[in-house]
Amino acid sequence: MASRGYFFVLLHAFVFATLATSAFSKLSPNYYDFSCPKALSTIKSVVEATVKKERRMGASLLRLHFHDCFVNGCDGSVLLDSTSSIDSEKKATPNFKSARGFEVIDDIKKAVDEACGKPVVSCADIVAVAARDSVVALGGPTWKVELGRRDSTTASRKAANANIPAPTFNLSQLITNFKNHGLDEKDLVVLSGGHSIGFARCIFFRNHIYNDSNNIDPKFAKRLKHICPKKGGDSNLAPLDKTGPNHFEIGYYSNLVQKKGLLHSDQELFNGGYTDALVRQYSYGHVAFFEDFANSMIKMGNTRPLTGNQGEIRVNCRKVN
Ligand code: HEM
Ligand SMILES: *[C@@H]1O[C@H](CO)[C@@H](O)[C@H](O)[C@H]1NC(C)=O
Ligand SMILES: *[C@@H]1O[C@H](CO)[C@@H](O)[C@H](O)[C@H]1NC(C)=O
Repeated sequence: MASRGYFFVLLHAFVFATLATSAFSKLSPNYYDFSCPKALSTIKSVVEATVKKERRMGASLLRLHFHDCFVNGCDGSVLLDSTSSIDSEKKATPNFKSARGFEVIDDIKKAVDEACGKPVVSCADIVAVAARDSVVALGGPTWKVELGRRDSTTASRKAANANIPAPTFNLSQLITNFKNHGLDEKDLVVLSGGHSIGFARCIFFRNHIYNDSNNIDPKFAKRLKHICPKKGGDSNLAPLDKTGPNHFEIGYYSNLVQKKGLLHSDQELFNGGYTDALVRQYSYGHVAFFEDFANSMIKMGNTRPLTGNQGEIRVNCRKVN
């Protein structure tokens, strides 16, 4: 009797957990298995060819997914161009002259629609898969991308300005911002490891190298001042991870421990606060970092997707149908 009761409790827990997960995300890694079995391999081959030509594009594609998800969920809103009724997110401060990779997404969309014979794969899903394939192409971990997101019919420059974290943020602002997107302190620290690849413009780190003298290695700051003068050179680039911006690895965290974070917001993660321990842990080896990064990317990718009859599958990622 007792064991039968136990069995029912377990069964209940299982059914409940299954329902709860599906009610939350409604996405599935197998979403296109029947409607377009070639979707994933097509995206992968375009990303691989692109990253082979220009390593940085892998970083830019990862960032695009982040900027999509942090503005009203992962719904492809970041891809929409301005029209009389669309206030493009591309013009928001964090994206203007900064977000890249839109042409690559267009190329992928064309290739995928051709492979499928019709437009069945959403632009939001393409961005999510391209981000994963980019990380893999640059030596990082892989994960199963949950799929089935639909595309928004709106965009919001205002929401982009309000919701994408700024490099001037302190630790508590970063934590609050991530909490607002359903992500915790660990997600913040591990997803910031995305800065193990790619570049930043002088305008985003100038204040950190000239004014944050209590929280930056002086030699590191001095070297950067050659790239980023006090005035002018706003678009001059420095690698976010000085150990190598084209390889996804733990150098980002070792930099932070040495007070060599490029952005103020990066160094805030290791500045005497309680995220220090986690930064130190990730700096020890890539196993924990890779595993946690993969899990947090899935979590970020599940942010408020449009599903079912919501939104649409765009034909052109830059335009509402
Ligand atoms: C924690 C808060 C974050 C802040 C304040 C932040 C801020 C920035 C800034 C200012 C840049 C430089 C942009 C430019 O100069 O044009 C940048 C680049 C980048 N960010 Fe973040 N970021 C954050 C989190 C993330 C996350 C969660 C990811 C991905 C998981 C990410 C991925 C990237 C990548 C890959 C680049 C380089 C892009 C390229 O080279 O084109 N960032 N970020
Ligand atoms: C972080 O910044 C916010 C907004 O500027 C400020 O209110 C808060 O006191 C700062 N927190 C710390 C710990 O410096
Ligand atoms: C350093 O901070 C001061 C005071 O906030 C500001 O006026 C100045 O422009 C900053 N310098 C740089 C190079 O960002």
